[in-house]
Formats: sequence, C-alpha cells, structure tokens
Amino acid sequence: MNESGDRPRDARGRFVRPESGEAARELQNPYSARLAFLPIHARDRRWAVVVAHRRAGKTVACLNELIAQAAGCPLENGRYAYIAPQLNQAKDVAWQYLLDFTEFMGPERRTSASELWVELPNNGARIRLYGADNAERMRGIYLDGVVLDEFGDWEPGVWTRVVRPLLTDREGFAIITGTPKGRNGFWRI
Ligand SMILES: Nc1ncnc2c1ncn2[C@@H]1O[C@H](COP(=O)(O)OP(=O)(O)OP(=O)(O)O)[C@@H](O)[C@H]1O
Ligand SMILES: [Mg+2]
Repeated sequence: MNESGDRPRDARGRFVRPESGEAARELQNPYSARLAFLPIHARDRRWAVVVAHRRAGKTVACLNELIAQAAGCPLENGRYAYIAPQLNQAKDVAWQYLLDFTEFMGPERRTSASELWVELPNNGARIRLYGADNAERMRGIYLDGVVLDEFGDWEPGVWTRVVRPLLTDREGFAIITGTPKGRNGFWRI
C-alpha cells in the first residue's frame, strides 16, 4: 500500500494527525455514566425506579438515558419526555443539560427554547421538558419513554391519571426517580 495512502491532510495538503482534526473533536458524546447508574442504561424492563441521594447524578443519567433511547427509537416520530414537579424547575435543571448532551449530534439537531424540546438529527425523535404542575397540557400526546424526576414532590395522581395513559399506544417506558423524603408518593411507589 502507498505509504501516504489515506492519511488525512489539512486544506493546504499537509498531513495532520486524525485525532487533531475538527471532526474528531466535534462528534464526541460528552456523557460518561457514573458507576451507580450503569444498571439504568443496561436495564431491559419497562418500568424502573431510581432512588439516590442528592447530587448523585440522577437528572444527568436519566436525561442521557432518554437521549440514548430517542436516538435508537425504531418507530417514526419518537416522543420522549422529562417531567419535573414544576415546569420552571424542568427548565432550570434540565434544559441546559439537554442542550449540552445533544450538541455533539451536530448542527442538524433542532431545538425549541419556547417549547423546550430537542429533535434528534438521525430519526427526528423529540425529547421535551414538562412540569407535573401543568401536566394537563400533555393530554392527547403519546410517549415512547418518560422520566419522572423528583417524584416525591409530584402532586398525587398525576402519574396514574395523566402520564401513564400516554405510554399505552407505543408501550413506552418510564423511569421514576428521586431522593427519599419521608412517607410521600415516592416512598409508596
Ligand atoms: N455522569 C456524570 N459525569 C460528570 N458529571 C456528572 C455526571 N452526572 C452528574 N454530574 C454532575 O454532578 C452534579 C449533580 O448532577 P445531577 O443534577 O444529575 O444530580 P441529581 O442527583 O439530579 O441532583 P439533585 O438531587 O440536586 O436533583 C452536576 O454538577 C452534574 O453536572
Ligand atoms: Mg436532579
């Protein structure tokens, strides 16, 4: 084989090391799972409950699980949701993470800051942020997967009455997460 064969060159024809190229830097997924959350990414169950201490990395791990599932969604128009007790809270804690952890997918990824969704470039699947405080606005949609964050602070009944039925059409999954805080709805589940 020709020694200079397939080695990459820069715009002026000089050889460059592949790892120093822009493309190599751009397309790195920045997420690396913490040990405690590996089982969440490896699970094969439809329902999961994740109990962890404050700052353990629940929100980051669950959002990245949504991103990975959305990117691999085999159905058209995949729809995924991250739901915090309040919409403002979802925006404060999850919007920047959602942008940061999907940026590596490139400029074809679409985003809406007003509706708080990100659409993945490979299959058009969307991940959207909601609040359990105005979960009524979710009526009429379907979901392929959902994360219910800080579940101990959710109004009782929103999961069973509003969110659970949205998963029926496409047999979507749910991950319920939070930190223990007395005998609340999270303790019961
Ligand atoms: N896999 C990871 N790699 C590097 N940093 C991480 C990872 N997961 C979480 N972090 C960092 O740890 C901190 C806590 O993460 P996160 O907000 O996900 O935790 P949490 O368990 O949801 O916290 P809280 O109990 O406050 O809701 C953040 O600064 C976040 O950026
Ligand atoms: Mg959190």
